Amino acid sequence: MPGILDGKVALVTGGGNGIGRATALAMAREGARVAVADFEADSARETVALINGAGGQAISLSGDVTNTAQVKAMLDGVIAAYGKINCAFNNAGIAGHQVDATGQLTHEWSEKSFDRMIEVNLKGVWLCMKHEIPLMLAAGGGAIVNTASIAGLLGLRTSSAYVAAKHGVIGLTKSAAVEYAQDNLRVNAVCPGYIVTRMTGPTRESPRVDAVLARTPMRRFGEPGEIAETVVWLCSDRASYVTGAAYEVDGGMTAS
Ligand SMILES: NC(=O)c1ccc[n+]([C@@H]2O[C@H](COP(=O)([O-])OP(=O)(O)OC[C@H]3O[C@@H](n4cnc5c(N)ncnc54)[C@H](O)[C@@H]3O)[C@@H](O)[C@H]2O)c1
Repeated sequence: MPGILDGKVALVTGGGNGIGRATALAMAREGARVAVADFEADSARETVALINGAGGQAISLSGDVTNTAQVKAMLDGVIAAYGKINCAFNNAGIAGHQVDATGQLTHEWSEKSFDRMIEVNLKGVWLCMKHEIPLMLAAGGGAIVNTASIAGLLGLRTSSAYVAAKHGVIGLTKSAAVEYAQDNLRVNAVCPGYIVTRMTGPTRESPRVDAVLARTPMRRFGEPGEIAETVVWLCSDRASYVTGAAYEVDGGMTAS
């Protein structure tokens, strides 16, 4: 059966783990050739092995999305391998506990933690878009999906820089969608709720888990593959009239 991404080349950042890995696998299942990028090179290679083992086609790329030269090299790597790029899932990101900001209120965040959060979760998305968009425009169009979060739509206690970055991702997404709407280049965001990845490990293991589940109408965490389904669709031609959207995939959390 033909896949909905047949013939397309896709880049996934943060493809070594969690949501990125599940999406890279789903894209390959739908027929895309996938460039799996992650600054954890071994994790990216593991994702590629899973894809190739299942009969798909993928390559791994390493690089930090906050570093201009490494982002350029990443895109050069996609073009060298596949000659084009049709879809990009700008998904690499970090949580507060990865910048030593666990449990900190807005005034307690250190400047260093705040800067690193914005650098990875907001600037990293922009830097990837900056280098993806010219390639897509030159090729006559494409589809970009950025990973935002329910934190791009709501305020959350002790997550202010994360929330600010994710609101910023939605702003970037909408602005770019407007700018390139007549260039056959669609730009959307996905807003996951609480998903079972290593990022939410500390939450799932803490007493906070009950409060999270109580706030989630479906009363469960989401699976990475449930985000992947939305991203695959947004990247496909089936979503041809969708641009500038921020899709909640959150078990009903933002609706409640
Ligand atoms: N897990 C959730 O509940 C949840 C909810 C909403 C949004 N998100 C977002 O989803 C995205 C993926 O998160 P996940 O839960 O799969 O986490 P994860 O930790 O499993 O995966 C994130 C990946 O990004 C990579 N990465 C981090 N910083 C990078 C950088 N500077 N350059 C290159 N790669 C980098 C990591 O190596 C890792 O492989 C993130 O943007 C996160 O903010 C996650």
